[in-house]
Amino acid sequence: MSKNILQIMKERRSVRKYTDKLIDETDLNKIIEAGLFAPNAGGGQRSMLLVMNDKELVEKVGRLNASCIRRDKLEGGYVSAEQPSIIDDPTIKSGFYGAPTVVAVFAQKNFLYNIPDAFCCAENMVLEAYNLGISSCIVARGEDTFTTPEGMDYLKKWNVPENMECKCFVLLGYIAGKYPDMKKRREGRVMVVTE
Ligand SMILES: Cc1cc2nc3c(=O)[nH]c(=O)nc-3n(C[C@H](O)[C@H](O)[C@H](O)COP(=O)(O)O)c2cc1C
Repeated sequence: MSKNILQIMKERRSVRKYTDKLIDETDLNKIIEAGLFAPNAGGGQRSMLLVMNDKELVEKVGRLNASCIRRDKLEGGYVSAEQPSIIDDPTIKSGFYGAPTVVAVFAQKNFLYNIPDAFCCAENMVLEAYNLGISSCIVARGEDTFTTPEGMDYLKKWNVPENMECKCFVLLGYIAGKYPDMKKRREGRVMVVTE
């Protein structure tokens, strides 16, 4: 039986331990389609998706991503014990955690809503991924990754239009080990007003 959307939202978790198995092309296409159908500011459909579908390439860009982390700018010291992030474990060398496929989400430079546009795409993709039994994680530092000299070389090589800027990444793959449990929600995060 298929899951309902609220159940998908509640059960989806960020996964940072992956097997090498590539995801099926039909599933990848559905996840991309979900990204393309995300809400977008002004209906402009300005974001762009770039799929990195090669383990070696993903590892190289993932290491660039990890090298851009600004530990002094981070608030709070701990993300997950079950699925440690590079914040939790500085020995992890790739910000993409060995995921076999990574989608870079690009948005239009200097557009007021470029960040929300990109993250709406990312959110749609991770939800559809979970729906299909595929694990995922949204990863930041898109701008930093591609303003390193090596990152800029990739953009040139891939002919990414100059008016586009990477805002985030969506890691995709199959989990190695047990899927993380649902996280409890913090209390006191909702206010209802009537006047
Ligand atoms: C804007 C944003 C940026 C994120 N950046 C990273 C990141 O750089 N690296 C990472 O491992 N996880 C990243 N995450 C995933 C969060 O750490 C994760 O969503 C959070 O810990 C809650 O866990 P859950 O997704 O399993 O519910 C990011 C999530 C969001 C929404």
